[in-house]
Amino acid sequence: MKHLINKAKKTLLGNRRRGYTLPTNNKLYPAQWNWDSGFIALGYSYFNLNFALKEINTLLDGQWKDGMVPHILFHDTNTNYYPNYTAWNCGNKIHSSGITQPPILATILKEILDKNKINKSQLLNIKKIIKKIKKYHEWFIKFRDPKKTGLVSILHPWESGYDNSPIWDDPMEKVKIEKNLKYKRADNKVINPDHRPHNIDYDRYVTIKNNLRSIKYNPKKAYKSSFFNVVDVGFNSIFLKANKDLVYLLDKFNLDKSKINKYIKLTKNNFLKLYDKRKKTFFSKDLKNKKKIYIPSITNYFLLFADFDDDKINRKLIKDLKKHNYKDKYFFSSIKPNHKSFEEKRYWRGPVWINCNWFIYKGLKNKDNLLSKKVKKKTIQIIEKKGFHEYYSCKNGQPMGANNFSWTAALYLDLKLNKN
Ligand code: DGY
Repeated sequence: MKHLINKAKKTLLGNRRRGYTLPTNNKLYPAQWNWDSGFIALGYSYFNLNFALKEINTLLDGQWKDGMVPHILFHDTNTNYYPNYTAWNCGNKIHSSGITQPPILATILKEILDKNKINKSQLLNIKKIIKKIKKYHEWFIKFRDPKKTGLVSILHPWESGYDNSPIWDDPMEKVKIEKNLKYKRADNKVINPDHRPHNIDYDRYVTIKNNLRSIKYNPKKAYKSSFFNVVDVGFNSIFLKANKDLVYLLDKFNLDKSKINKYIKLTKNNFLKLYDKRKKTFFSKDLKNKKKIYIPSITNYFLLFADFDDDKINRKLIKDLKKHNYKDKYFFSSIKPNHKSFEEKRYWRGPVWINCNWFIYKGLKNKDNLLSKKVKKKTIQIIEKKGFHEYYSCKNGQPMGANNFSWTAALYLDLKLNKN
């Protein structure tokens, strides 16, 4: 499928603007998104290492003084995206949102370093990048885990990247929608509203945002007073893996890794507190309302990617994963289809997402080679049959959301061209 490899590269280049890349060219996401840029950089690394590094550098240009890397950077302020830069009203050097997203940069950078010849000036650049990523991780440790539990909180569903996942249904139901809330959604004019979050979800997204804005996104205050505060299995798995990869990078460049190492230890000691021995399943924790959240989300399997050193847990996860939606034509559905919250076509409530498959494929590699190969094959298959879309039905592969989707194209390149 040589021609599709070229098409993937063209998709990325077509979405590229000055030093950064849009998640899609169809107006749905007219800005730079944090984790999208991570995946996109990995895609570029197969044909233009400088573009890969530039993508990361541009994202880090928007890093806040306290270390946070925002979930959106609004390089172009003239768009009809909502919430736009005036609705957020913040940013350091670049207009941005006031929240973050899954921190995958360390992981991506390690992947890039492992398979590329790097010249001297690129090495200098990479060293600077690593220092900024370290500051970002330290921000998480300091402000998102002030009680030193080894697990970090997210303060808005948008921070997870899986915005309207049923994982958030319970905590979101408790969010009292602001009175006289006035705003205009733009997303559901571009994409079939049945495939996007509900209006009531948006009312709550905006309410939580407005509250954070009212305290000027002060990270200390935000942790205590956000209307939403959840410790999520998937998010913490991504962070654990990123911390391990960061240690590897710090080591390579002779930078101090003691603080990150210490935190990894703390995480490892405490992650199993999110395991319910009776129900034999992991749960996320709604800290705001002191409740456990049991949703059969594919993101719970990101723990395989975190490489949690526990054979028994790994075997159990793999056993459950095989039952997640193996009867369907395409996997993995974001939510297990027999669960009451499952919706075949609505954004993060059922469809197949390529980045989830990618995390799981990577996670399975050193644990169940046969299954990891199968996941890779099926993921490539859906893209080759249906194209570079944002998400797909697990029943028939129907493509949904944005087309020319950058991270799908980028991860296709990794799945096809990564020799490791
Ligand atoms: C959106 O606009 O749908 C994004 O997922 C929010 O980050």
